[in-house]
Amino acid sequence: MYFKQKELHHFNKASGSNGEILKPHLLDVDTFSQEDFNLTFSIANKMKSIYTNGPKKSPLLRGKTITTLFYEPSTRTRISFESAAKMLSADVINLSVDGSSTKKGESFFDTMLTLQSSNIDLVIIRHNHSGAPYLAAKYLNKTLVINAGDGLHAHPTQALADMFTLAQHMKTLKGKKILIVGDVAHSRVARSNLIALCALGAKPIICGPPNLIPWDLFQNIHNSSSSPFKGIQINTNLDQAIVDVDVVMALRLQSERHAKGALPSLREYANLWQVTSSRLAKASPNVLLMHPGPMNIGVEISQEVAYSTNSVIQEQVSNSIAIRMAILLLMTDQSEALNV
Ligand code: CP
Repeated sequence: MYFKQKELHHFNKASGSNGEILKPHLLDVDTFSQEDFNLTFSIANKMKSIYTNGPKKSPLLRGKTITTLFYEPSTRTRISFESAAKMLSADVINLSVDGSSTKKGESFFDTMLTLQSSNIDLVIIRHNHSGAPYLAAKYLNKTLVINAGDGLHAHPTQALADMFTLAQHMKTLKGKKILIVGDVAHSRVARSNLIALCALGAKPIICGPPNLIPWDLFQNIHNSSSSPFKGIQINTNLDQAIVDVDVVMALRLQSERHAKGALPSLREYANLWQVTSSRLAKASPNVLLMHPGPMNIGVEISQEVAYSTNSVIQEQVSNSIAIRMAILLLMTDQSEALNV
């Protein structure tokens, strides 16, 4: 039901094999072609000028109703989607899970049907279970679904914001060495970013404690000659992995997803895998330092590095508003008015 590559390229409604109308849900970036990335970034550039230079308001989504439904905590994703939708003049309903009928035993499926019957045009879902937005997309035929992070699986709009941020600093990602360091195994951001980085021709390296590397995933990837991921390197030694890289992306330890005792000690973790200024000095001289947030300063990243001139962490946040505005426009077929 969600868009396949060539359909997503046009971001339009398209006929399925049975003649039904397929909806352009956004579940991950695995359906994005190079053109899709470029189109999204062009629209995001226009959106960025709307909210940086004013007037901070466009009528393009007037009459649309958008609901955010977050089963897990969020600051950045939630606020940026809400501001993106409001700047485009959509009506936004933030449905609090704790104050919803979920607490009275209503199923996720019934909540989705209720939103659709309430004429919600688009629902933005964050869920602790991988696959929940896919389930919603499978059954909704009028309400569009955006995955705002599902379990440890995917976070497509964060990956788009990260790629857009890199595109502001580099002409191309082709051949760029991008180090992703930390709790890769539990990171939906890392998974979506790896898909996007490989699609855009970068050379990702992943690094972290051996028990936080998703070995099974990469084993399969390396076994398949046709896999777009086969260029990914794995190096569990941060002091080696960081040498000469163009970008360092640090990840939060997702302790809420860890089995008890997964890490013997935070101090040991920080000693071996924290991005510090002495380690960053081994990277390329103009290295960009990224973190999707929220950060645990002193664990995966030092304070000095997090607020250094190499850091583009706050740019990632503000770029995510532009990207989410672009996605809302593309999914609702409103982007044509922009002539991109
Ligand atoms: N990057 C990210 O998803 O942050 P939040 O959890 O604050 O939304």
